[in-house]
Amino acid sequence: MKKIAVMTCGGDCAGLNAVVRAVVVRAERGFGWSVCGVQSGFWGLINQNDSDIIPLTAQYWDKENFVLGRGGTILRTLVRHLPAGAEELRAIAEKGAEFFRKHNFDGLVIVGGDVSLAKAKAFADAGVPVVGVAKTIDNDVVATQCVGFSSAVQVGVDAIDRLRTTAVSHGRVFVVEIMGRDAGFLPLSVAVSGGADIALLPEMPYDTKQVIAEVQKRMKRDGHVVIVTSEASRAEDEEADFIEEKGKQRYRGAAQRLENILSQYVETGVRGVVLGHVQRGGSPTAYDRLLACRQGVAAVDALADGETNVVVGWDGFSAERIPLQDIHVTQLSPTHNLVALAQGMDIFLGKKL
Ligand code: F6P
Repeated sequence: MKKIAVMTCGGDCAGLNAVVRAVVVRAERGFGWSVCGVQSGFWGLINQNDSDIIPLTAQYWDKENFVLGRGGTILRTLVRHLPAGAEELRAIAEKGAEFFRKHNFDGLVIVGGDVSLAKAKAFADAGVPVVGVAKTIDNDVVATQCVGFSSAVQVGVDAIDRLRTTAVSHGRVFVVEIMGRDAGFLPLSVAVSGGADIALLPEMPYDTKQVIAEVQKRMKRDGHVVIVTSEASRAEDEEADFIEEKGKQRYRGAAQRLENILSQYVETGVRGVVLGHVQRGGSPTAYDRLLACRQGVAAVDALADGETNVVVGWDGFSAERIPLQDIHVTQLSPTHNLVALAQGMDIFLGKKL
């Protein structure tokens, strides 16, 4: 192994530059390899433009342009999905692999979410030695913690801390809408660490009448209420509202719907606040930096061991190399320890279980 490439794929989040930095530092300082960044994710290989390949040195990335704490991704990432059809995907991956070989790369580190890591298999099948690192604020990649999640939880908690002061001052209900797509890990973690009263999750459709009753009960008791809703939460008798965009569902209106309903029952006012992409931006938390360093180093070490076509996993206690074909998206189950924790903290989950 002499020369490796690294790319960031899919939606951005805090901590991506920290992973790339860790890859560069470990490869160059640990093994004497050279590293190039591929701009715009998979498309930087598929489009076959030499200008998308940029040499990365530890001196530049680490010492001169301290990227560890910088949000977004300096390598850019194009949120343009690869084809779903097997034949089309194979053809496009072959094109990428051809360009990979033209640059004499010996390995590729892909920093991506569940979709990108699943598509990475096509590149592996086309002969590219791949190692994946999981990132996404949704934290929904099976068997590993994801870079970006901790920072997004922190943004949610900071927002609740700020909103609570107004909730208390005016005796109001705040409904805070949190991203996370079809998984409740992010909203529920925000709810627990932000001390919310109610959490509404995609995996557990809520009973509107019970939510109203719970709000009334808590308003009477505490004088204010904080509700966390996932962007994809829905009542039992309705569908989540979304628009279809490039084969993916983009949710909208969860907080607004609740604001409309609850306003009829709360005289002092109900306000919906949508955090959206604010949760993906800004500087990574210390925990995300730690995870980014751990996973960047683990990815290079896997390449050094010749163990490719895996994703480096970290469950909080131990490291694992997960075969690419085993990577899939996951959701909260009612028996997940986070659900039990929320119930233990008296958070109402939308319906009496
Ligand atoms: O998967 C990460 C995520 O931020 C989700 O939480 C959210 O639903 C989605 O991406 C938003 O995607 P986009 O940036 O394309 O609007």
